Amino acid sequence: MSKPNPFIFGTATASFQIEGALAEDGRTPCIWDTFCAQPGRVANGDNGSVACDHYHRYKEDISLMAELGIDSYRFSIAWPRIFPRQGEYNEKGMRFYRSILEELKRHGISAAVTLYHWDLPQWAQDKGGWENRECAGWFLEYADKCFEKLGGGVDMWITHNEPWCASFLSHFLGNHAPGNTNLEKALIVAHHLLLSHGMAVKRYREEAHNGKIGIVLNPAVVYAESDSFRDRLAQTIYDGCYNRWFLDPLFKKSYPADAAALFAARCGTNFDFIHQGDFDVIAEPIDILGINFYARTVTRYNSAGYLLTADGYADLPKTAMGWEVSPETLVDLMRMLRGKYTDLPVYITENGCAFKDNIENGSVNDTRRVDYLLRHLKAVEDINHEGLGIAGYYHWSFLDNFEWAHGYSKRFGLVYVDYDTQERIRKDSFYAYRDYISAKKKANKA
Ligand code: FCB
Repeated sequence: MSKPNPFIFGTATASFQIEGALAEDGRTPCIWDTFCAQPGRVANGDNGSVACDHYHRYKEDISLMAELGIDSYRFSIAWPRIFPRQGEYNEKGMRFYRSILEELKRHGISAAVTLYHWDLPQWAQDKGGWENRECAGWFLEYADKCFEKLGGGVDMWITHNEPWCASFLSHFLGNHAPGNTNLEKALIVAHHLLLSHGMAVKRYREEAHNGKIGIVLNPAVVYAESDSFRDRLAQTIYDGCYNRWFLDPLFKKSYPADAAALFAARCGTNFDFIHQGDFDVIAEPIDILGINFYARTVTRYNSAGYLLTADGYADLPKTAMGWEVSPETLVDLMRMLRGKYTDLPVYITENGCAFKDNIENGSVNDTRRVDYLLRHLKAVEDINHEGLGIAGYYHWSFLDNFEWAHGYSKRFGLVYVDYDTQERIRKDSFYAYRDYISAKKKANKA
């Protein structure tokens, strides 16, 4: 029997949330620059212009990662650095990511790279963005360039991060850039995101690269508030509109009929954005599935709700995001994925929590984050004892950073960032993760 692959420990970040340097080396604006500039969109009027200044401090940051002892670092590429204008490749932008890969390699850390973590170039948005089917082609051109220029140094590619957020949250609920509130737009965007994913995977295969490729989803672990018919119906609706809407096309070549019927009743779409053959492209086989898991979801029936659901009563302790700390529910998600969809290696590509952190005498005693982290790591261990095959765990996030519409008000890092001085301060959770990783490695060697 061959030895199983070692479990991967990592941390995750995303370009717009940490890099800053928005106009450097030829980068042009993305939809988040535009969104931040619109009054009332982002808390405190925050923007990404400096963020964690990672663009200039990546060496310091990567040496901290090495100290943490991680195997793999998940980060994303800013598309407008690579194609600042349509069809115009920018080598200077690519150079930055090559430097990151070199630095990681020097420290023996492998790279998991996300192509799209929401920073669509504004030039693409000006031509309709993801609502325009051509956007999938622009994405393919960008993805292909990244494969060509960085391929050798990347172990795991992720086409899209959380397409639910890039479609529904951004085009139906309006909370994220570009801030639309139109259900049909969200459906069209979701479809084009998935299409572009399949196109990029197909291209990657054709070019016979060595790494793995997949997508990151954020399925909800959704529970009914009660056992009543109505609440169980709400659970099914939520599961359809939120989870199956992405998992079915990727693994079953279709959209779920129940959710499609509800969406059509609500927005009148006739689904003519789905072309013949699209599902074959979308379901191009992948190597890995990434799951971002933060909390469970409780729902109840609400006949007045647009999609007939409402937040259910949820009484577990919550993080500063209002998300319930519920590590023991991850197993239900894994059983669902294994039972209904796939045997592929699953990575927890994000898991973490925001709390109000304070520096006292030079240290950050983030006991609640330590507890959150260790409980989730324990849940992953238990899940793997059950044979459900989680291949790795990436903590969100390495650094405190720009938390989208919440600006800098929510701190998710293992490392505290003093935004006035850009000083990095290791939180207690940094040490807890470091010790956990080193204990596991020692035990594996023994
Ligand atoms: C996820 C995002 C990530 C971060 C965390 C808290 O939805 O992928 O960028 O904002 O939430």
